[in-house]
Amino acid sequence: MSKKILVVGNGGREHTICEALSRSSQLPEIYNFASALNPGIKKLCKEVFVGNIMDLEELKKVAKKVEPDFAIIGPDDPIGIGSTDALRELGIESFAPTKANAQLEGSKAFTRNLLKKYNITGSPNFYVSVKKEDSERKTFFDKFDGKIVVKADGLLGGKGVLVEGDHFTTFEEAEEFAKKSIEKFNRVVLEEKLLGEEFSLISIVDGKTVLDTPAIQDHKRAFENDKGPNTGGMGCISDEHLSLPFLTQQDLSQAHEITEKVMAAIEQETGERFIGVMYGGFMVTKNGVKLIEYNARFGDPEALNILPILETDFVDVCERAIEGTLSTIGKLKFKKVATVVNYLCPNGYPDNPVKNVPIQIAENLQETENQKIFYASLGEENGEILLKGSRAIGILGMGNSIEEARQNCEAMIQNFSGPLFYRKDIGTANLIQKRMDHMKEIRI
Ligand code: AMP
Ligand code: GLY
Repeated sequence: MSKKILVVGNGGREHTICEALSRSSQLPEIYNFASALNPGIKKLCKEVFVGNIMDLEELKKVAKKVEPDFAIIGPDDPIGIGSTDALRELGIESFAPTKANAQLEGSKAFTRNLLKKYNITGSPNFYVSVKKEDSERKTFFDKFDGKIVVKADGLLGGKGVLVEGDHFTTFEEAEEFAKKSIEKFNRVVLEEKLLGEEFSLISIVDGKTVLDTPAIQDHKRAFENDKGPNTGGMGCISDEHLSLPFLTQQDLSQAHEITEKVMAAIEQETGERFIGVMYGGFMVTKNGVKLIEYNARFGDPEALNILPILETDFVDVCERAIEGTLSTIGKLKFKKVATVVNYLCPNGYPDNPVKNVPIQIAENLQETENQKIFYASLGEENGEILLKGSRAIGILGMGNSIEEARQNCEAMIQNFSGPLFYRKDIGTANLIQKRMDHMKEIRI
């Protein structure tokens, strides 16, 4: 009898998760618990249950119906409220961390304090403030000449981090946000502002072993040349060496080592193995690799670069992560290609996106070996495909170089029309050269 897997979530990330599962030689039956029907996921699944994925009782009901061999929880919110713990009560294990371990993503203060307590290097200077009136905040601000970052201590949908120069300049502005964070979350984290290039290293972990996926770079700003508001991520790149042109092997080893140590430390702290994904956001600085943050799930769009080129059987990977036998896999195998992902977004995204407007997709559109399509915030009504207000369609281009991958991505994008936009500069030689030049300056 084939295995049953319950996937929670319905974005582009979950579409790639389902696609990777569907390529398994184990030919599993995939079930989806979703906030809305994703037309791409629907095609890969035996059954889709639409409901409130933030309601643990509803999740349990779906799980009782499906009786899956295991579950995969895609998005941060259902992980953060304890979906893994809820399913465990039914005897169902998940490829996702427990609520206690998910604090790694949910609380910036928890993570910074964890690194400090276990003497793990890689944090910038930081200060956790818990009092509404606290003169230490001014002392910290002055110590770094105002070059600081203020982080709310909870999930604020991408609006929880204020960076000097980008979002504020004066102490008063920083202080206003700090006080708001203390009101809402009882804590705020102040950090020294780091200078360097950011990259993501997403690792699959089981509490004992860390298996890295290719290093990638996201593009968070909405508009070309890194202008405009922050978004969930407009697109990501990785090169044909499964890395990034501005990274060294040493950078990757440093990031890997931080993740290994943090994985061990969190188990000491919570008493639970960390199962699932540790997604490190890192920055290469002149003083080596520093940790910006951890997420406890695959990135979106990062998953669209990584999972489609994963050659190791993904069902097997999830099962071994759950069992704690990931070490038997050795290393994850990936197709040796460069990848460029672009998200097509509704005009006005992220602040005022158009919604419930149809888009047109070329007839008989087919994916190719080097071009894949992942659906995200889309709906289907009366035979029309409608925009639902968030990132709509993720297009993956692959190739022997980033430029080739970018061209394949761009060519596929031409098949979609409507009130959509995307960042045309992602993966261009120009932007990559800018990153390389920046890194050269930093490393001196
Ligand atoms: P986070 O939610 O912690 O990933 O922060 C969002 C963004 O803020 C990051 O992707 C960085 O661009 C920036 N950021 C966060 N922490 C720092 C820091 N200590 N120094 C410089 N930039 C930072
Ligand atoms: N692309 C950023 C994230 O998934 O958090």
